[in-house]
Amino acid sequence: MPNTPLRSGGPKARIAVIPGDGIGREVTPVAVDAIKAAAAKRHRLIEFIEFDWGADKYLREGVALPEGAVEMLRDEFDAVLFGALGDPRVPSNQHAADILLGLRFKLDLFVNARPTELFHERFTPLKDRVCNDIRLMVFRENTEGIYVGAGGFFKKGTPEEIATQEDINSRKGVERILRYAFDYARGTDLCSSRSLDRPLGDSASPAPFPPPHQVHTVTHKPLRLCMSDKSNAMTFAGDLWQRVFKSVRAEYPDVDSRHLYIDTLATELVRDPRQFDVIVTNNLFGDIISDLTAQLVGGLGLAPSGNIHPGRTSLFEPVHGSAPNIAGKGIANPFGSVLAAGMMLEFLGWPDEAELLKQSVKSALHDHVTTPDLHGSKQTLEVADWLVKHISKHT
Ligand code: NAD
Ligand code: IPM
Ligand code: MN
Repeated sequence: MPNTPLRSGGPKARIAVIPGDGIGREVTPVAVDAIKAAAAKRHRLIEFIEFDWGADKYLREGVALPEGAVEMLRDEFDAVLFGALGDPRVPSNQHAADILLGLRFKLDLFVNARPTELFHERFTPLKDRVCNDIRLMVFRENTEGIYVGAGGFFKKGTPEEIATQEDINSRKGVERILRYAFDYARGTDLCSSRSLDRPLGDSASPAPFPPPHQVHTVTHKPLRLCMSDKSNAMTFAGDLWQRVFKSVRAEYPDVDSRHLYIDTLATELVRDPRQFDVIVTNNLFGDIISDLTAQLVGGLGLAPSGNIHPGRTSLFEPVHGSAPNIAGKGIANPFGSVLAAGMMLEFLGWPDEAELLKQSVKSALHDHVTTPDLHGSKQTLEVADWLVKHISKHT
């Protein structure tokens, strides 16, 4: 029994740790230490098992995602804590596509949840914005779109060559991410990884962790939702998104919902981010717009994400990549990874520990214990020491 995962009724959370490449290897251990500190005094049993999947292994053995890896993660682990992938020695980025996109697709992690919250006014590049002005969630469809790798070359290498890249949108895929976003906006159930894996179309499917607004509030006014696409130019995919949006929103008359084209959304986010609580969009637009929202509150070093399928093994990672330009220098900001670890604890059904990680990051920011990307003078390991001490004091 000792190895039975939490979601199968066992006593332990079993976490697969995949640090990956570059600064993924520097920030992920900080997140693991932060979780251990938060779990220690509450006697949570958490087992971490590390996997060396990444560029080194790919170059050495030609193996990206090992055979059987998906089934193992699915059946034996509650969650995956992931760092980043990307290495200049692999210019095709093939190993990252195989491992990261492979896990998102094969574990069917259809929700990519990317929260943005301004923790301190000094971190926003926008004039006159205060903390409460920027607090939103981007839901990125995570299993379809332009990421599926459909396409090819014709007459490659000749002057007439043609390359195609297809944008794949299924009705099922569009409906489930929209429905998820509406449920989240409504604040429906605040669940854990053990929640039921409900069939599509059940509007009671739960959100994995509480909307930041609702953690401490008594009222439950639904959050405002904005669906974004490019249906004025991408007319086929856009038409499907528009039709599904129309039918799903009719089931949620209590949620204030609207549509913006993705270019307009980008400019509106910069002009006045107070307009937005929940944004839901496709895979590519979600990738891009979540880098923009990250920059509104301090940059990529602070941005966490969860790749989620309610009730199944889900994967948590910072939004940033392997940052080859600073890798090995010991100055990577670990907060994005620590906040992603917090999202993972929330998903596991441990909101107190999750909140402790988030509060520790907020305190570090408040006390100027930060790396150079946030205009601080600390190294990654100095920030890590401070965090662990801070968490241990508060458990
Ligand atoms: P990046 O996120 O790695 O870096 C962009 C910029 O932000 C760089 O200047 C970097 O130094 C800075 N930065 C990012 N994270 C930081 C942190 N924690 N602390 C301090 N500074 C930080 O994006 P990129 O340079 O476009 O990509 C580099 C590699 O990472 C590429 O191979 C790319 O494909 C890959 N990538 C992977 C993921 C992922 O694994 N999820 C995400 C994005 C990019
Ligand atoms: C991200 C990254 C990935 C993506 C890359 C590395 C394929 O940018 O996680 O945001 O585009 O999804
Ligand atoms: Mn990205």
